Amino acid sequence: MFGSIIGIGFICGSVCSLLPHFFSSSFSLGNSFLSACKTLNLVAGDSQPMVNAEYTHAWGTRLLVGLPVGLPSAKVFDNRNAIAEALRVSPDNLEIRYDDGLILDIITQPMPSKVPYRAGTAYRVCVGVNKRGEPRYYDFDGPYPHLLIGGISGGGKSVMLRSILTSLAQGPAPELYLCDLKGGVELGIFRGLECVKGFATELGEVLQVTTKIEAEMKRRYSVMAANGSQSWAGNKAVLVVDELADFKVRPGDPDRVIKAAIKTKLTNLSAKGRAAGVILVLATQRPSADVVDGLIKTNIAASICFRTRDDTQSRIVLDHNGAADLPDIPGRLIFQTAHDETLQGPFLTAEDAKKIIAGLPQREEVIRHESYTDQAEPMDGNSLEL
Ligand SMILES: Nc1ncnc2c1ncn2[C@@H]1O[C@H](COP(=O)(O)OP(=O)(O)OP(=O)(O)O)[C@@H](O)[C@H]1O
Ligand SMILES: [Mg+2]
Repeated sequence: MFGSIIGIGFICGSVCSLLPHFFSSSFSLGNSFLSACKTLNLVAGDSQPMVNAEYTHAWGTRLLVGLPVGLPSAKVFDNRNAIAEALRVSPDNLEIRYDDGLILDIITQPMPSKVPYRAGTAYRVCVGVNKRGEPRYYDFDGPYPHLLIGGISGGGKSVMLRSILTSLAQGPAPELYLCDLKGGVELGIFRGLECVKGFATELGEVLQVTTKIEAEMKRRYSVMAANGSQSWAGNKAVLVVDELADFKVRPGDPDRVIKAAIKTKLTNLSAKGRAAGVILVLATQRPSADVVDGLIKTNIAASICFRTRDDTQSRIVLDHNGAADLPDIPGRLIFQTAHDETLQGPFLTAEDAKKIIAGLPQREEVIRHESYTDQAEPMDGNSLEL
């Protein structure tokens, strides 16, 4: 008997915070909203909006609001900044949407500065959690092909690539082609995986790896043409580049020919890859017009943008300002697909990633690439044997 009373008490304690406070004295945010509506003349004649429920969550408060006939929700959206001020939160921390009634999320708790890695499902890879603690995913099989990752040094690009690759390797294990111009320091832990079909640490190898994935794309197109299909139904192929700026051609650059060849292949892959299941993930700490070439950018529909140095860099990645104003917190990012959302990216150390992928199928022999300088002839798709 006593146990069951404790049990009921415990259950009440756990769920009460999610119950609406219809009559309680803690109705203050709802009241503040209603008085803001009066001040801002958000009324329809004598009728005012009504707060139907106020829920308390770990992240803040949700108000469910009924609008009187004659007061369009657009008018409330237009007054978001003034309402935020009345509720004493920054406009970024007031989310308003219409879903069979008006929903106001007033975020009063700061986002965590560290969130753990979580494996995705199939091609859906977790890229962070939003202000309400909800996980968000980039879907390699979704409508937004190719991913651009930008932001300052130390922002969290390589950690994000680590999470993405760990999740893909744990899941559908697409063919992975990895280019790590930092000598393999960042992506080296994945090198031995069976699903890794190419691994480059210098320019000549990058040309070979991009040539190889381009050849794979062409092969897939011929199979599709033979089958009369318009898109590749099999396994995806993912090309990851950690740091795109390494292909930037400088005046008098002795590597300009090879860099230009790599850029041409990346452009080609970004334009034609999607239907063949070939997806690019390109990371750069220097998002400038000459690094993120206009042609490539046009074909990339999803972005992850950590803090940028200035508005110009933000505009290259997101097409608008905003990323320069992100707080100086590693892993804090703006995720852009159909719309933007601020997230805290998952944190995964190299040691933890190694443990997760340790049990996955490994290749027996090391991937070998012929040195670029040893090549008398330009390489073709067959020159890279794994
Ligand atoms: N999601 C995250 N959560 C918490 N801390 C993070 C996160 N991502 C990165 N960090 C911290 O920031 C450091 C730098 O991250 P990372 O190496 O990914 O930066 P980067 O953007 O790749 O920089 P660079 O352009 O110099 O290569 C990490 O070692 C880690 O301490
Ligand atoms: Mg890095």
